[in-house]
Amino acid sequence: MIRSAVRGVGSALPRRIMKNAEFEKLVDTSDEWIVQRTGIRQRHIAAEDETTVSLGEAAAHKALDAAGMTPDDIDMILLATSTPNNTFPASAVEIQERLGMRHGYAFDMQAVCTGFVYAVTTADLYIRGGMAKRILVIGSETFSRILDWEDRTTCVLFGDGAGALVLEAVEGKGTTADRGVLASSLRSDGTHREKLYVDGGPSTTGTVGHLRMEGREVFKHAVAMITDVVEDVFAKSGITADDLDWFVPHQANKRIIDASAKKLGIAEEKVIVTVHLHGNTSAASVPLALAHAVGEGKIKTGDLVLLEAMGGGFTWGAVLLRW
Ligand code: ACO
Repeated sequence: MIRSAVRGVGSALPRRIMKNAEFEKLVDTSDEWIVQRTGIRQRHIAAEDETTVSLGEAAAHKALDAAGMTPDDIDMILLATSTPNNTFPASAVEIQERLGMRHGYAFDMQAVCTGFVYAVTTADLYIRGGMAKRILVIGSETFSRILDWEDRTTCVLFGDGAGALVLEAVEGKGTTADRGVLASSLRSDGTHREKLYVDGGPSTTGTVGHLRMEGREVFKHAVAMITDVVEDVFAKSGITADDLDWFVPHQANKRIIDASAKKLGIAEEKVIVTVHLHGNTSAASVPLALAHAVGEGKIKTGDLVLLEAMGGGFTWGAVLLRW
């Protein structure tokens, strides 16, 4: 059977690093509160010339280099983002243009923090359905542009950045020894809308709006939702927590990451954590963490890797893949 194997990963971060202490001048908060409640120590914040498109393009170049490919080798670009450069055209098409691609097709996908997990699952189905042989899957966000910088309950949590993967069709035997995506599980439930949303949009206010979140409410649901989809991919694949080499969760809050790993029985040394460096970068968080772990020599060819995310909607999902 056809599998979608990872050929390369890359990432890009804005030049400016903003440490927690800087928020003490903006809102009533402290480095100590932010570290204790979230694990975040710093985040990158995009300058005017750094956008979802420019960061996504930079991450795409790095993933292509790692794969030993050029844009000519790619059939399709799928960009997970909730902060596109413009309402339209899709930022994916702008990245396609910047990469000099005059063939193939590109589109955006919006599932907030779960965007990258949705995009990898979608790309896998395009590959297995024969619609594409090589896909650039990108998660790129500039959440700093939709934050209310006077709201201490949200502005300290998010950051900007991008990560990208090249997925390629390969022949597999149909077992979990194959390289590539082995199982996925996606969920959404719109009854949770008010807990995490942006209070603007083209069809309502005609403005971009700001992120609004009831953090405690999101927190309450996060661990149960994450374990639900992870247990689903375990059931679909026959893989258990002990079989995993790496757990790469969405990086929103260290306490959510720790509680999820504990509930799933995943050993601490298998958990990739970057939330202290990047904050919550929404759809970019999982590919940024993947690029970081590969860069540190942790994730290697043949390793069994579990991705998961949960975010606005609510949306939540998990992907199991062999690197
Ligand atoms: N600095 C200091 N105090 C603060 C801050 C701050 N930055 N923010 C809130 N507080 C205060 C609150 O006002 C509250 O004060 P009160 O008790 O007087 O009312 C107190 O700290 C405790 O607030 P809680 O909200 O209960 O704190 P909690 O321990 O729940 O941590 C947090 C808040 C970090 C937001 C947590 O709830 C969380 O991580 N939630 C999940 C967020 C998440 O995972 N989002 C993922 C999806 S994101 C997406 O999809 C775009």
